[in-house]
Amino acid sequence: MIGRLNHVAIAVKDLMASMRLYRETLGAAVSEPLPQPEHGVTVVFIELPNTKIELLEPLGEASPIAKFLEKNADGGIHHICYEVDDILAARDRLIGQGARILGSGEPKIGAHGKPVLFLHPKDFNGTLIELEQA
Ligand code: CO
Repeated sequence: MIGRLNHVAIAVKDLMASMRLYRETLGAAVSEPLPQPEHGVTVVFIELPNTKIELLEPLGEASPIAKFLEKNADGGIHHICYEVDDILAARDRLIGQGARILGSGEPKIGAHGKPVLFLHPKDFNGTLIELEQA
């Protein structure tokens, strides 16, 4: 059911410092920051030959990554995103297998303008999984 690894998302406290790290130290192509108030994050995209890295910085008071950064002071891998061909079919199959979908269970439009869902990390080896419609 799952297809390509779309991205790995890393939560960071200082987006500018992390952008410099990827641009200058690691020599990657780093986008300009994109505030996403509806998701409570500012995102930077890093294009790699075979996938993407996203740096997430908290935006606003109720950012969903604020607690994560309290526990992980240096930042850390927040989630991984797999592509699926049909997000509603994927959701229904997962629910049928007992997996929990975060939030309302309805897909939201994610950072790439495509529908996404998040799966409960307790059901997937302690990893927060994002599914994105390919
Ligand atoms: Co993501």
